[in-house]
Amino acid sequence: MKIAFFDTKEYDRKAFEPYEGRGGLSFKFYDTKLNADTVGLAAGADAVCVFVNDDVSAAVADKLYEYGVKLIALRCAGFNNVDLSSVFGRIHVARVPAYSPYAVAEHAIALLLCSIRRLHKAYIRTKDYNFSLNGLTGFDLHGKTVGVVGTGKIGRVFIDICRGFGMHVIAYDKFPAPDSGIEYVSLDELFARSDIISLHCPLTEDTRHLVNPGSIEKMKKGVVILNTSRGALIDSEALLEGIKQRKIGAACLDVYEEESDLFFEDRSGHILNDDTLARLITMPNVLVTSHQAFLTEEALANIAETTVKNIENFFAGKPLENEVCYHCENMAACKKNGRKKCF
Ligand code: NAI
Repeated sequence: MKIAFFDTKEYDRKAFEPYEGRGGLSFKFYDTKLNADTVGLAAGADAVCVFVNDDVSAAVADKLYEYGVKLIALRCAGFNNVDLSSVFGRIHVARVPAYSPYAVAEHAIALLLCSIRRLHKAYIRTKDYNFSLNGLTGFDLHGKTVGVVGTGKIGRVFIDICRGFGMHVIAYDKFPAPDSGIEYVSLDELFARSDIISLHCPLTEDTRHLVNPGSIEKMKKGVVILNTSRGALIDSEALLEGIKQRKIGAACLDVYEEESDLFFEDRSGHILNDDTLARLITMPNVLVTSHQAFLTEEALANIAETTVKNIENFFAGKPLENEVCYHCENMAACKKNGRKKCF
């Protein structure tokens, strides 16, 4: 079984190499991302293994199908980069629904603490023997209200950590979890009451630019916004404007809506053409990490194990519990229930 891996880094290869050869699996690792220009590399592969910024749009899906690729094995949870309706009925798609919600939730908290206690500044100061505290005043998390959008696996872990800090948690979810003990409110109420807002929902047509000029208007002055979910949940221009207007107190971004050509790569020494990102990075109250939240040893090992299991189960004709299709969001229309696969 030949598997073509796209957008791979050294840490991906290290995690997957132990599985090479198991049950006849043969791996080909490519540095390049999958897109219309590179899809030719998938010719002869039985499956492709892709990550968050690989582009499986309709044109790419057509080519994969033509080459006889039968499975798109995502080594991530989100699948907004796959045109699910165009692959349906032709190529199966499996994902890794959870590999470490702790990795992502803990990174969100790390960003929050770093930002509000000015650790990013203190680190640089003390390296230069500057032991002054001027400008480093932070605020207590204890007693603050945090609004969590999306109370799935990562959102729940994040909530538990926040409660440990003595924060008051409110949440919004399109599908609230019954009997969870979470105080659900409307999005508008969440915007109005939260000192800190953390995004943990998927990117869908509903959630694209959830943070926009209108929603920023409803937020408290000085609000801290955390995004470890998907970049396009935030209208970046509106975020920048909110920061310039001093309405937004701080932003911690592990994802960015135009990240695909930048994040995961060393762009030092290059001219950054994205003026919005460049301006955001210059702000003293903006912290950017480049889609790093998932990157723990535990998460990488879990990703490799589940991805390989998805591939093996698929080619062995076993039920593919991690398959996704465009019907899956609507449980009533989901054909997988009671069947092995989505089609
Ligand atoms: P999950 O599927 O367990 O939870 C998502 C939650 O969002 C669910 O409770 C769902 O009901 C809710 N939701 C769906 N539509 C919504 C809407 N329109 N408004 C509000 N809530 C809505 O997913 P999980 O594992 O908690 O992951 C959350 C997101 O985190 C993923 O979609 C992914 O984009 C992102 N992620 C980021 C990583 C990183 O390295 N930065 C790594 C892994 C995931």
